[in-house]
Amino acid sequence: MTTTIATRWDKDIPGPSLLPILGELPMLLRFAFNPLAALEGLHDTYGDIVRIKSGKDPAIIVFHPAYNREILRDPSIFHSYNLDFLPIPFPRNSSLGRVMNSMPFLNGEKHNDHRTYLLPYFHRNFVTRFHDTCVDVTKKKLDSWKDGQEVDLRSEMEQLAMWLATKPILGLDPEKDGETIGRQLEHSMKLLFSPFTLLLPYNIPGLPFHRLLKSAERLEHAVREAIERRTARGSYGEDILSALIQLHEQHPERVSEADLVSQTIMFRGGYSPNGMTLYWTIFLLSQHAEALKNVLDELAQVLRGESPTPEQLEILPQLEGAIKEAMRLFPAGILTARYSMEPFELGPYRLPKGMWILLSAYITQRIPEIFPDPYRFLPGRWSSIHPSAYEFMVFSAGPRYCIGSSLAMMQLKIALSMILQRYTLTLKPGAVVDCEGLNAIRPKNGLPMLVNSYNSPSRNVPFKGNVHKIVDFNPSI
Ligand code: HEM
Repeated sequence: MTTTIATRWDKDIPGPSLLPILGELPMLLRFAFNPLAALEGLHDTYGDIVRIKSGKDPAIIVFHPAYNREILRDPSIFHSYNLDFLPIPFPRNSSLGRVMNSMPFLNGEKHNDHRTYLLPYFHRNFVTRFHDTCVDVTKKKLDSWKDGQEVDLRSEMEQLAMWLATKPILGLDPEKDGETIGRQLEHSMKLLFSPFTLLLPYNIPGLPFHRLLKSAERLEHAVREAIERRTARGSYGEDILSALIQLHEQHPERVSEADLVSQTIMFRGGYSPNGMTLYWTIFLLSQHAEALKNVLDELAQVLRGESPTPEQLEILPQLEGAIKEAMRLFPAGILTARYSMEPFELGPYRLPKGMWILLSAYITQRIPEIFPDPYRFLPGRWSSIHPSAYEFMVFSAGPRYCIGSSLAMMQLKIALSMILQRYTLTLKPGAVVDCEGLNAIRPKNGLPMLVNSYNSPSRNVPFKGNVHKIVDFNPSI
């Protein structure tokens, strides 16, 4: 990158030309209908930095790790997006305002204070306290499957991920409490991410925005009930909610009652990406016989059919490679956003305050110079590559990297090692795997898989669906 500072960024940064009258609408529609193709198109056509909007609410999108680093390492200039930055009149003093204010949406001093306080509870050594509860809930899920049964792997893993997250985050009963809050959360999020909700943001009965406000009220009610139950016990545990309640009791000026509600919503960060990683890893392994064999041989050698101990989780490189590869191909979010609070320089450009900057893990993690054959699922690559966090961005990078990454890796390795040692999962013949989602890539019609006892012969099942655009399942070599 040069050191010359270009001041006419809106002329100098390449990007699609706007159509008269329609403006950015065609690009937005392309993005709404096929976000992955839209991102790939922008990168292929314009390169590592693209102007997507000038004028009011200017926006760029960056793909290069050097740009990712510049943006993610300085949260004082680049704030995380939240309701304040959206051009929609979200009622602040409402259930929706409170539930949309958990740690990923906080900025400045408050974010720093809450994150610093919670960091020790997410430390790699601390989270092993939840090892046994993760084994227990996984065993419960596996006991519920029968040899020869068909399951929708998407919904099964989403449920397991909710169970896995409940004890460490809420300290409550996984099935009763965790699932109740999780289901209500999913209902609210579905409404929030519907284009119709955002296009018609009016609190009028019958409109989706009204339904969203009502759904957020029910969610807040469920969360407050969980907090009350946790408080009523009188003794606190080692979970995140207990830690927050204790801070609230000692320093209400640091964590208010509303903050307690908001921070409890980080429960979703604890289960949603884990669920996705669980089902995509199993699906990808089921279609890659050699990679599956490598993982199974490793599990047989290290675990010998037993559930893993915390120490054994550290010596499963084949399994870890498969998980990382699934997260690389299907990152929890294809985009993340920041908002500039000051004018800033990025490469050769001088850019204004009040700009949206989008970063795309999906595209960065497919740069062939970093990940050769980027569309292939190659878990073995992880024994020889060591990308930086600005290149492999699944947990983001910089001072706001995912606080739950150690917990997530522990949970994923426990659950996957137990599932793969107990059952062989095969895609149901005739299945169509089509993906949907604006930011998270999920199988639209679920993932129908056949469950057979371990050691049944595994086989790749030919299938159709747009997932073939995300992963190259049939390399022609
Ligand atoms: C496979 C599992 C996971 C993935 C892929 C993942 C991914 C991410 C990413 C990409 C971010 C940054 C978002 C941004 O920069 O805008 C993030 C932040 C965060 N994650 Fe995770 N996450 C996972 C599991 C967890 C778990 C188990 C928790 C536990 C509660 C958690 C809690 C959080 C929180 C609180 C933040 C906000 C951090 C901050 O703003 O300082 N995540 N996660």
